[in-house]
Amino acid sequence: MRTRWRVAAVLSAVAMIAASATACGSGSGDELLIYNAQHESLTKEWIDAFTKETGIKVTYRHGGDTEMGNQLIAEGDASPADVFLTENSPAMAAVERAGLFADLDSETLNQVPPQYRPPTGKWTGVAARTTVFVYNKRLQPDQLPKSMMDLQRPEWKGRWAAPPARPDFQAIVSALLQLEGEAATAQWLAGMKQNAVLEDNNVSTLEAVNAGEIDGGIIYHYYWYRDQAETKEISGNTALHYFKNQDPGAFISVSGGGVLASSDKKDQAQQFIRFITSRAGQEVLQKGTSFEYPVGSGVSANPALPPLADLQAPKVDPSNLNAEKVSDMMTQAGLL
Ligand SMILES: [Fe+2]
Repeated sequence: MRTRWRVAAVLSAVAMIAASATACGSGSGDELLIYNAQHESLTKEWIDAFTKETGIKVTYRHGGDTEMGNQLIAEGDASPADVFLTENSPAMAAVERAGLFADLDSETLNQVPPQYRPPTGKWTGVAARTTVFVYNKRLQPDQLPKSMMDLQRPEWKGRWAAPPARPDFQAIVSALLQLEGEAATAQWLAGMKQNAVLEDNNVSTLEAVNAGEIDGGIIYHYYWYRDQAETKEISGNTALHYFKNQDPGAFISVSGGGVLASSDKKDQAQQFIRFITSRAGQEVLQKGTSFEYPVGSGVSANPALPPLADLQAPKVDPSNLNAEKVSDMMTQAGLL
């Protein structure tokens, strides 16, 4: 789907009417309601652990970052949601700008180092993922791009892939915009239009590289590690290249969690975010099936992953990632 941010907002307003009708009809008054844009498998792991510890029942509605963020903005104070979880920061920043988040408890904020949450305390990082260049092992190390910026050069024409419509990829572009500015980003996107094969999602990008249809692709790390831990069916012929060196391609994207100001179950909602950022909640990332990075309570990553601190990520302010501007620029470049 090639949905633009504003178009999506209008569509969500329509969807909202149907969604509210469902909420009234089901009469699920006791359960905490998450608007979930994280991977469902991870959110289920968190919910199970939380309910086991607290006895509080939790339900969720699932959609993409942009879709669920737009739905919250369209619903405003009338939203039935208590908690918002995303894969990436831009949708959290948009909901924060709309003034819809409550302040998080200081106990929650103290569990997460400042580099993984906005200074406003309106939401927090709950997990992280890093940008990687996945490549077919027929490439030699000296043939790899030194920087993500190199992928706009003529020698990369037709040789790399990425999923432009996915919020995961758009978060990477929003970091590029913050780090390098509008002119350099527009130029890079024009280069991408020239050079890249446009894929539907991270998995199809990985599959194309694995099948040797293309030399490399920009994805997030965990898609590769999940397949490596299972069958290696879509990653066996590939390896990961980390750009490091504060490169825009070394961007670490923070998954967000926040409590809606309009929630009538704020105590339980605060408790949920406090739990997922606690040692027990972060150990779900370390030991579960997500292969995403813990960011809080001093919990280290799954031992299969390189430590987050070794990845030399650029400094990015997660509350100032501009999804709407990125969507406009990518549309302009003919990528959406
Ligand atoms: Fe993802």
